[in-house]
Amino acid sequence: MSDLDPLVHEAREAFSAAHTPADLENAKARFLGKSGRVTDLLKGLASLAADEKKQRGAAINQIKQQVEEALNARRQALADAELQQQLKAESLDVSLPGRRRGEGGLHPVSLSIERIEAIFGSMGFDVADGPEIETDWYNFTALNTPADHPARSMHDTFYVEGGLVLRTHTSPMQVRYAVEHVQRYKAQIERGERMPEIRVIAPGRTYRVDSDATHSPMFHQCEGLWIGEKVSFTDLKAVFTSFFRSFFETDELQLRFRPSFFPFTEPSAEVDIAFGSGPLEGRWLEVAGSGQVHPNVIRNFGLDPEQYIGFAFGMGPDRLTMLRYGVSDLRQFFDGDLRFLAQFR
Ligand code: DAH
Repeated sequence: MSDLDPLVHEAREAFSAAHTPADLENAKARFLGKSGRVTDLLKGLASLAADEKKQRGAAINQIKQQVEEALNARRQALADAELQQQLKAESLDVSLPGRRRGEGGLHPVSLSIERIEAIFGSMGFDVADGPEIETDWYNFTALNTPADHPARSMHDTFYVEGGLVLRTHTSPMQVRYAVEHVQRYKAQIERGERMPEIRVIAPGRTYRVDSDATHSPMFHQCEGLWIGEKVSFTDLKAVFTSFFRSFFETDELQLRFRPSFFPFTEPSAEVDIAFGSGPLEGRWLEVAGSGQVHPNVIRNFGLDPEQYIGFAFGMGPDRLTMLRYGVSDLRQFFDGDLRFLAQFR
């Protein structure tokens, strides 16, 4: 029935003009809703005679069906378009480079400690480790440091409850290691047989109330101890020269001893080195404390100072790291700034 055809046409137009599901629902309401145009036509059937009603009814149902088909087609088209849009937005460019994982590395001071361990290891030194919270005995008394020694003042030392201290140096490891060693060879020593020499280094963290460009309240030290029956300053100088030349990778390096004082060594010496070239050429730089182990300390090891002799030393891996890489402010090692630390990877 041709008077109904324009309605189908109009409905199609209205549906294609809808670009969102909401618009489409509105358009649908205008034709198929409660008072939509198709619904109105159906309502109009009531006033017709039975015969006419049947024919007209069939015609209206036909166009209603066409309108519904047009509606469904448009719904599908809008859904397809939305899916395409979404796929496009979520698309991956598989040709892009991947995201790299951040690469870690050892701290420069750890690198130095590894180096120290490797070099001394090659000269037959064991590597030992011990507590950072130390007793008064190991940190001071056993090292011949009397109660009135300035190192014991609150000014220098972090005291912990219970008479303990944060170790102010790695020297207590001399005593801890030697006592264990002597214990291990006790039977031999008592029979008057020769005890294997003590040869050890002990790197680790140490603490003092001190803070500026060259001092940090937490810093590192590396202790060394070599005890035997004929160990002398000559041996110490040979070991040190060899160590520092390896550490700084230069045979032009010079080494000297300068008289000094430490309670646990007698005589005591400061160790200075000088580079044969480079920015620090010819300047004497203090790099370690050292000395012949004091008889009282040897006794605290459980050994007879008439029979056993040797030397001890303590050096600062932080300072060696600064010299090796030309770092001028010690605090940079402990600030945790990755821009600084990443340079040593
Ligand atoms: N413990 C000393 C300090 O912290 C360093 C030191 C000096 C260690 C002489 C030694 C040594 O073993 O013989 O200043």
